[in-house]
Amino acid sequence: PEPGWSETTDVLVVGSGVAGLTAALHLREQGLHVTVVTKVNIDDGSTRWAQGGIAAVLDPLDTPAAHANDTEIAGVGLCDPAAVRVLVEEGPARVRELIRLGAAFDRHADGSLMLTREGGHRADRIVHAGGDATGAEVQRALHEAVHRDPWIRLVEHALVLDLLRAADGRACGLTLHVLGEGSEDGVGAILARAVVLATGGMGQIYSSTTNPSVSTGDGVALALRAGALVSDVEFVQFHPTSFVTASVNSVQRPLISEALRGEGAHLVDETGARFMVGQHELAELAPRDVVAKGIHRVLRATGADHVYLDARHLGRPFLEQRFPTIVASTRAAGVDPASELIPVAPAAHYASGGVRTDLAGRTSIPGLYACGEVACTGVHGANRLASNSLLEGLVFAKRIADDIARELPPQADPAPAGPRKDWVVAPAARPELQRTMTRGAGVLRSADSLSATAKELTRLAEQRDTPRNAAWEATNLLTVATVLVAAARTRRETRGCHWREDFPGAEDEWRGHLLHTLDRQARL
Ligand code: SIN
Repeated sequence: PEPGWSETTDVLVVGSGVAGLTAALHLREQGLHVTVVTKVNIDDGSTRWAQGGIAAVLDPLDTPAAHANDTEIAGVGLCDPAAVRVLVEEGPARVRELIRLGAAFDRHADGSLMLTREGGHRADRIVHAGGDATGAEVQRALHEAVHRDPWIRLVEHALVLDLLRAADGRACGLTLHVLGEGSEDGVGAILARAVVLATGGMGQIYSSTTNPSVSTGDGVALALRAGALVSDVEFVQFHPTSFVTASVNSVQRPLISEALRGEGAHLVDETGARFMVGQHELAELAPRDVVAKGIHRVLRATGADHVYLDARHLGRPFLEQRFPTIVASTRAAGVDPASELIPVAPAAHYASGGVRTDLAGRTSIPGLYACGEVACTGVHGANRLASNSLLEGLVFAKRIADDIARELPPQADPAPAGPRKDWVVAPAARPELQRTMTRGAGVLRSADSLSATAKELTRLAEQRDTPRNAAWEATNLLTVATVLVAAARTRRETRGCHWREDFPGAEDEWRGHLLHTLDRQARL
């Protein structure tokens, strides 16, 4: 649609989780005017749901090299070592800055930070807050800092639509739909000298996910429409332990943090056997893909829809004090983790791939940056290491702000855009898309399941509607699902969280990346 209103800022940040708000605050340190747009309310993204914590080398006995090693083992040969080095070496300073900003992490009586462990980590290096409410505390601290700064304009209820580009191809703003603003259809434009996508993930392409309902792949879809390169989208991480309960009537499932296993909880099948023991040297604390696959095998063999997490031996006082969020969500559904087993199953959790960037967060389109889950910086490879995601947002947000401040061009006028399609996908396609993706392109995939899924997505694309937010979201979900399925069909191997039943091993010839635009695929 043609924009009916417009405004101008120095830097436009899309998204208000850890990546977006941290980028906004660093851009302000550079003296720039920032506008943050967010799809619903400022706190409605994934960040506030994060439980486990932030991984960073804060123990004198730990080392960045050890953190890098664990990250690269989890990433199964596809991490970019330079990006991982940046992450682990700059991470501790970014966490300390967050503490100075006001984030209160859990501490021992002597004042030192409590550090815990999660899957794939061989050291205790994860800071947490409020026991298992780390994301909520990080979001609170960033939200308050952003509100203190009058030079950060916040626009809520704003769904971004398309990138605006200057005559030389550089990003110079976005069109967006803001509820209740401007002309009748509410579509406007914000012009900016640089644009940062920090829109989070795409978990809503599946029927069960730990992601909130806003995680509809908007940033990746927008980048694809603009012609930007995305990569590694086939690597969707399934968190091994989401809470399975009939009383949760939504696509978003409560997370049962890996930190619970880090503190000693066991995974058991219906006979009470610890099925992860013997499958991996770290048993329940193996990297996430290994544990999710271990659970999936049990589910296939038994036909059940869940296994169990046994935390009873940790004791009621410890569970209530260390895991208040989990205790509250399980009790609300009638399960007392101090005396009962917790039913759990894998759910879509994190997009390891996304809009491809360099080490300064630059995408393949000049002036367009990507940060956090929407980005593919190279730190996650084929499977993200636990608690590296908030860290990635913190580290690369600073690098992006520094890069923008180094070479910010004057505001350019948008070049006239070509003709646009005036239809979008019907919102009714969303639950069908989630079911088909779960069936054919979820934890376990094969050539047959993926080709059936691709056909079904083509059929869903025919369900059209007139433009409005729910339809734009359905269109974004269909766009990212289509590219994901194309990548998953091409990658004929099993690696990290991409599990092909028909190609069970990791192959050397596939030790590389798949790059996508909307209509082309290439190997790197
Ligand atoms: C968890 O607490 O298990 C999630 C942490 C993460 O996804 O990194």
